[in-house]
Amino acid sequence: MSLAPSHPPAAPVSAAAAPVLEFRNVEKVFRNGFHAITPVSLSVQRGEIVSIVGPSGCGKTTVLRMAAGLTDVSRGELVSTAREQAYVFQDPTLLPWRSVQSNAELVAKLKKMPKAQRRAAAADALETVGLSSVASSLPRQLSGGMKMRVSLARAITSSPDIMFLDEPFAALDEFTRARMADVLLDLWRGNDFSALFITHSIHEAVYLSHRVVVMAAHPGRIVRIIDSPSPPSADAARDTSALADLEAEISGLLATAHKEA
Ligand SMILES: Nc1ncnc2c1ncn2[C@@H]1O[C@H](COP(=O)(O)OP(=O)(O)OP(=O)(O)O)[C@@H](O)[C@H]1O
Ligand SMILES: [Mg+2]
Repeated sequence: MSLAPSHPPAAPVSAAAAPVLEFRNVEKVFRNGFHAITPVSLSVQRGEIVSIVGPSGCGKTTVLRMAAGLTDVSRGELVSTAREQAYVFQDPTLLPWRSVQSNAELVAKLKKMPKAQRRAAAADALETVGLSSVASSLPRQLSGGMKMRVSLARAITSSPDIMFLDEPFAALDEFTRARMADVLLDLWRGNDFSALFITHSIHEAVYLSHRVVVMAAHPGRIVRIIDSPSPPSADAARDTSALADLEAEISGLLATAHKEA
């Protein structure tokens, strides 16, 4: 992960504008009666990347699925002002018989974006993720990291206001994973989206985020929401020592959360 910015300034995150997503005392009780999430309150501002970390089973995916409207909220209120949303999961789920370009266009096509517009948007996205030269290749000709880049390009081509990412880089080797974090930030700098990003990597969470949400289990809850002392931006170098301190703080919180789990 490089720390030097190389792009024009991104739109500033404005705390005054309405959040793109807001949880107000949201709870989740599954049909079997299991109370997975006790009241959580959290907002995601426009242009903000918020990461969620926490022990396995604490409810990270459940929070994300509620945010994305994939599962109901049991109690409380979830307000979304997003017009378009996109999902990126650990499995890139590319169609094997379609080219990289065609896969990158797919979600935009399903959303009825005009052909010329989605072609251009997909070509732009593939260029940002460094895959222009393999646009006509098939997925089986790509490495795992390249497939994940296509998955990110496909998500961004539909012009989402918010992206939901559930451990998208967990299956990749460490080096590829670090590069993918930079690819995601490159996309973020060039496109105006917010993101809710789940990861088991504290380093990744700190590197990618404006804020980090730390969850604990039994019951599933938020124990802390921490503003990054040096969030991603285009016009300032990162303060690596402040980020290292944040990593240490989150490690401590998670060690406590794991002990309780
Ligand atoms: N459909 C369901 N019905 C009942 N319980 C469920 C259901 N889905 C998830 N759970 C339970 O809710 C809790 C939270 O699950 P969730 O998948 O959100 O955790 P997670 O933090 O994403 O875990 P991991 O890090 O392993 O992905 C778990 O105890 C899980 O067993
Ligand atoms: Mg999960």
